[in-house]
Amino acid sequence: MTETSTPELRVGIVGFGWMGQVHARALSRLLQHYPEAPLRPRLVAVADNAPDDRTQRAAAAYGFEHLITDWRELVTHDEVDLVCITGPNFIHRDVAVAAARAGKHLWVEKPAGRSSAETAEIVAAVEAAGVQAATGFNYRNVPAVDRAREIVASGRIGEVEHTIVRFLADYSADPDAALSWRFRTEHSGTGVLGDLVSHAADLVQHVVAGIDELVVDRATFIPQRRAALPGAMHYEKGAGELGDVENEDYVSALLRLKDGSRAILESSRVAVGEQNTYGIEVHGTRGAVAWDFRRMNELRVSTVPSGGDYLNSFYATEYAGPGDGELSSFQPGTNNPIGFDELKIIEARRLVESIASGKPQGATIHDALAAAQVLDAMVESSDERKWVSL
Ligand SMILES: NC(=O)c1ccc[n+]([C@@H]2O[C@H](COP(=O)([O-])OP(=O)(O)OC[C@H]3O[C@@H](n4cnc5c(N)ncnc54)[C@H](O)[C@@H]3O)[C@@H](O)[C@H]2O)c1
Repeated sequence: MTETSTPELRVGIVGFGWMGQVHARALSRLLQHYPEAPLRPRLVAVADNAPDDRTQRAAAAYGFEHLITDWRELVTHDEVDLVCITGPNFIHRDVAVAAARAGKHLWVEKPAGRSSAETAEIVAAVEAAGVQAATGFNYRNVPAVDRAREIVASGRIGEVEHTIVRFLADYSADPDAALSWRFRTEHSGTGVLGDLVSHAADLVQHVVAGIDELVVDRATFIPQRRAALPGAMHYEKGAGELGDVENEDYVSALLRLKDGSRAILESSRVAVGEQNTYGIEVHGTRGAVAWDFRRMNELRVSTVPSGGDYLNSFYATEYAGPGDGELSSFQPGTNNPIGFDELKIIEARRLVESIASGKPQGATIHDALAAAQVLDAMVESSDERKWVSL
């Protein structure tokens, strides 16, 4: 199939910060890695209200034709088929619902809504319009995570007993970091819950089993920060008035999963020394499997040898190869690594197939709702100091 015979998918992006740029790169590279993709993305419109030249820079780098300040103009634009929702959390629901009502497909960054009620509103609009809606649970797309999921499902590590999920980061560890939208309930909803625990909750449910019950503790270790300048990215220092941090920096949780196994989940955005320390370890009756984002293409696996030497079944490293997930669309050999941007190309491929076939693939807005319901239960458990069932 030549490029010109592949129908176009015209894309508008709302919010051109980090994720907006990652979505733009993923869609631009789609046909390089998936030449048989049924639709050819074309970046048509970008909306961002930052008081700088970022939409002009977006046009220069990616060829956007329509540079827009108000997202309302983008979501109803005749030349847009797919809307990427990559602004701050407080605009996700309004942008997503308006775009779905205008008949556009959606690629919504996690955590979708600020609460499960907002995410449910997006689901209702998507279902009413009959459009496709992907969610940015990119860690599902890691080839080594595909292998971990297969190992657990195959019984190679026996029956799962317990899982450890840790999503630790230092991105807000600097007490001088700006009081950006991420720290305000009105703008972000929850704190590290929506930001990192949404990924962790999705990962444990994707690799092991659904969550049945949980008990949670939350803490805010840095209670005040200086205000952000308009348009500041979240790594910038604060420069204005001191204000309150309204959501949590840290979460610890005990989970009971639907398969009867147990899990511990811990997440922080203020953990000094931890840069993207995201991972999952699953322990079974005859082995264990462990994945760490910082060594994304590796899996540590331990299995009891056939003689039953439980006490000496050491971990060995297995490297992701062309047979794992979609690695072969990027690299030809085992232990030839891929990176974060490639996870988003895989996400884009699944969304484009969903749009062309009408059959959802990959993480959808329904998975975002499932994760949001876990987050709501975590808030309830923490506020009321009790176990909560899902
Ligand atoms: N999937 C992942 O791994 C991942 C990683 C990072 C962020 N995210 C999610 O992506 C979203 C964006 O995060 P980010 O890190 O890119 O943030 P960011 O601050 O880098 O970018 C947000 C952009 O939105 C723009 N914006 C703000 N208000 C707007 C409005 N009303 N209309 C149009 N544009 C507006 C800002 O000017 C900025 O350019 C968040 O929901 C976040 O949770 C997901």
